[in-house]
Amino acid sequence: MSEFWQDRRVMITGAGGFLGAWLGRVLVDRGARAWGFDLSTGDCLAVHGLADRVPVTRGTVLDGAAVERALREHAIDVCFHLAGQSMIEGAAAGPVAAFEVNVRGTWTVLEACRRAGPLRAVVCASSNHAYGPQAVAPFPEDAPLNQLDPYGVSKACADLLARSFAANFDLPVVAARNVNSFGPGDPHTSHIVTGSVLALLRGEPPVIRSDGSPVKAYLHARDTVEAYALLAEHAAEPAVRGQAFNITPAAPVSVLELVRTLIAVAGAGVEPVVAATDLSQKGYFEHLSGEKLRARLGWRPRLTLEEGLRDTYRWFAEHGTRWITERRHA
Ligand SMILES: NC(=O)c1ccc[n+]([C@@H]2O[C@H](COP(=O)([O-])OP(=O)(O)OC[C@H]3O[C@@H](n4cnc5c(N)ncnc54)[C@H](O)[C@@H]3O)[C@@H](O)[C@H]2O)c1
Repeated sequence: MSEFWQDRRVMITGAGGFLGAWLGRVLVDRGARAWGFDLSTGDCLAVHGLADRVPVTRGTVLDGAAVERALREHAIDVCFHLAGQSMIEGAAAGPVAAFEVNVRGTWTVLEACRRAGPLRAVVCASSNHAYGPQAVAPFPEDAPLNQLDPYGVSKACADLLARSFAANFDLPVVAARNVNSFGPGDPHTSHIVTGSVLALLRGEPPVIRSDGSPVKAYLHARDTVEAYALLAEHAAEPAVRGQAFNITPAAPVSVLELVRTLIAVAGAGVEPVVAATDLSQKGYFEHLSGEKLRARLGWRPRLTLEEGLRDTYRWFAEHGTRWITERRHA
């Protein structure tokens, strides 16, 4: 394994969230010294036993002086910017707040990095969702970002800002367009995998809110954040700096196939309930190309969909319900 992370000083905005905590775990395991910057106390970090090992500065990414202070105080070398509104439904319910945190928050963090620099790498979480409807599949990174819902637009803006700072300033920034992540410790019970796992653990069939037809790709969180780490390691190279990269397994699946695969992995003899109460994504088709990241940096997911779902189901079977309940009452 690369020595790159040994004693590397890293800041993760959004470290208290699902992917931020996974990233903290992977980087600490590789020898990095990691700090978080987050509004929340970091309960996802506790899931990974990192509550003390990844100290979190409590604050908002809208406060540039606070972000810059944290970067300088810890002499940060690599910054991962993950903080923000991560939920499509949340952004639709509060578009202005989502634009504030995902767009202004991104330029604020980038500017703080620029002022506190030089930094070795900055990786910004963009999103699969920014693509929206496309004429050609699989979607390469130079496809237009067509999504017009508030979340998609906020991530497309963040993606452009990341590339703009790399193009104009002495800052090696990369935009990471990862697909939907699932895995142990996902606190978002409305995510299809987490919600379905919890239903199965209650002895109930999973309920699919759509008609089961939307097609998307899903990646175990460990694979997602290992790709983030790889992008950071190479961010200063001309083939990577200032670029957007899709992080995706080769093939997407329909929501119905995904849930049936989970049910098979869990060994539950039930059929999902296709409620079809939310048809907003009926016929939605999303297939990102993973070719650029594979060709330039040799990245491939380590886990198949079945392996990732098995790991997730096992984890929630052991910890999940208790943890989710505690979290709700916290
Ligand atoms: N989870 C996925 O499947 C997925 C897919 C594509 C892209 N992404 C992107 O990856 C990033 C991380 O996703 P996640 O699932 O871990 O999200 P999450 O919601 O679990 O975590 C987000 C974190 O950001 C923090 N935060 C929110 N507003 C803040 C603010 N103003 N200042 C400081 N911290 C703030 C929250 O407290 C939370 O800990 C997000 O930018 C998301 O848009 C996620």
